[in-house]
Parts: sequence; structure tokens; C-alpha cells
Amino acid sequence: MQTRGTYANGPRAPYTAGFEAAGEIVAAGPGVADPLPVGTHVVGVGPGAFAGYMAMPAAGAVPVPAGWSDAQALGLVLNWATALAALRPLGRVREGETVLVHAAAGGVGQAAVRLAKHYGARVVATASPAKHVTVRALGADLVVDGRHPDLAGELARLTGGVDLVLESVGRATFAASLAAARPFSGRVVVYGAASGEASVSTYDLVFTHQVQLKGLHIGTLAAAAPGVFGELLDELRRLIDLGVYPPGTPEVHPLADGPRVLAALEEGRTEGKLALDPWS
Ligand SMILES: NC(=O)c1ccc[n+]([C@@H]2O[C@H](COP(=O)([O-])OP(=O)(O)OC[C@H]3O[C@@H](n4cnc5c(N)ncnc54)[C@H](OP(=O)(O)O)[C@@H]3O)[C@@H](O)[C@H]2O)c1
Repeated sequence: MQTRGTYANGPRAPYTAGFEAAGEIVAAGPGVADPLPVGTHVVGVGPGAFAGYMAMPAAGAVPVPAGWSDAQALGLVLNWATALAALRPLGRVREGETVLVHAAAGGVGQAAVRLAKHYGARVVATASPAKHVTVRALGADLVVDGRHPDLAGELARLTGGVDLVLESVGRATFAASLAAARPFSGRVVVYGAASGEASVSTYDLVFTHQVQLKGLHIGTLAAAAPGVFGELLDELRRLIDLGVYPPGTPEVHPLADGPRVLAALEEGRTEGKLALDPWS
């Protein structure tokens, strides 16, 4: 979305791209109270992350878990925090519920499948057929082709309705997500639109899909509800200690391959977390 200029309040070219980075603190800015020591390895978000050096807001810099490499920590504050926020403070997932995770082989999707299983949910996942083996290996109970021509019908036939939908695909799946969520108790958490925009009307919500619709942007959550974001980070640390959240295995590419990697991401040809290494 940033490269297309469609990200709300996103940067305008020319700019240094990138959201999330992991690396070593080489200096603390003058206004930083109680900075982590120089040399600490941290992961966090900030503009210009596709670079050898960046200014990362100190408040959001999280130490790389002990024993993990910088690359293994990528995804902690973006993918995992988003998946956890969608499932817990927003999605209110409970043991025994059925959760539908779209794009389940993706960066956020893989984290969401692992987390939903950990919290005792039955996971119904969508992904391209070539990625189903990856999603099953994560523990998903049922995997459906997200581009099925009658996705809503297929989900109704296979699930009979779900309690929570993690909606990140937008145009291609949104109508099916609204249809899949159970009336009254069903929650649909929207945090992305990889296939393009989708819309819902007041008529839809009153007469056809009486669901709880919730929007999520993890950066806005961190700014508007820092206490909730802090609880997410605490829970992620606990999940790391439990081994539920294992060291990440991002596909690392040289920074010079950035345009090719972004094109593959945009075309939906990738799985899992992708990283660019400015030093290779
Ligand atoms: N709101 C937030 O705070 C927040 C934070 C992080 C990420 N996000 C959003 O969450 C979504 C997932 O992010 P991610 O980095 O983990 O990406 P991703 O899921 O790894 O990649 C997107 C996936 O969407 C699926 N997809 C379905 N239809 C598509 C289409 N027409 N074009 C392209 N892809 C299509 C593809 O999987 P299949 O081939 O399996 O269908 C594709 O691999 C993105 O929309 C991202 O913007 C939001």
C-alpha cells in the first residue's frame, strides 16, 4: 500500500521505505528518557526501516528475545502483535470457538493460526492451494482455497458458521467473512485489504449480517491504548517462554532485491515473513 501511495497518511516519494526492523542500538536521541544501553539488540517499527540505520522511536523498541538473532525477532511487533490483538482484546477468542483466519500462510496469518490453536480454538483457514501444506503444519483444522468462486457457500457448508473472523484480504473475502460470522455473537476483525477495498452498508448490518465488526491498526492501537499494547507485549513474552511463539524464520533477501520481493508480496506469491538485509 505504501509503494502504491494508498496507505493512509503514508509517506510521499521520495522516501526511505519500510516499517519494521531489528538491529543494534548505536546511539540514543537527546530526548530519550531512560534509554536502553547502546549495543542492545531491539526490534520495533518506524519510518525508513529498509536501511542500514534508522531512528526507531524508543518507546516501541523491544529487546530481541534472549538467544534469538535479529532476523528471528522480526515480526514480533508487527505480525505477532497484530495477530494477538485481533484474537484477544478485539476478537475475544474463547476455548472451543471456531476462528476463520484468511491468508493463513502469510506473515500475520501464520502467527494467527498458531495463537488461535494455543487459545484452544478450532481454526478454519484460507490460503492458496499451494500453501495449504504450510497452513496444515501450523495446526489448522480445515484449510480452504481463499479464491474459491463460492467462498461463502463453501464456508457455510464446511463450518456452519464461525465465532471470529480475522479479515485481512478485503475485496476477495470480505462478503464471505460477513456471511460466515454467526449472527449476534460473531466478530469480524478487519486489519487489512490485500486484494483491494471492500465495503459494508448499514442495510447489510441491520438486515443481512448482524455481526460485530471491528477495525484494527496496530500502530493506532499502540498510540491510543498504550496499556493494551503493553499487555500484548507481555503476553508475547510469555508465549515466547512457553515456546508457543518460536524464533521466526523469515525469508531474508539482500536489500537490492527489495522491488522484486515487494512485487511478489503484492502478487500473493509469498509465504510467511519476508526480510531485507541492508548489509548483504
Ligand atoms: N492493521 C494492521 O495493523 C496490520 C499490521 C500488519 C499487517 N497488516 C495487513 O495484514 C495483511 C497481511 O499482511 P502480511 O504482511 O502478513 O501479508 P501476507 O498475508 O503475507 O500477504 C498477503 C496474502 O493475501 C492473500 N491474498 C488473497 N487475495 C489476494 C490478492 N488479490 N492479491 C494479493 N494477495 C492476496 C495471499 O495469500 P493466499 O495466496 O494464501 O491467498 C497473500 O499472500 C495485509 O493486508 C497487511 O496490510 C495490517
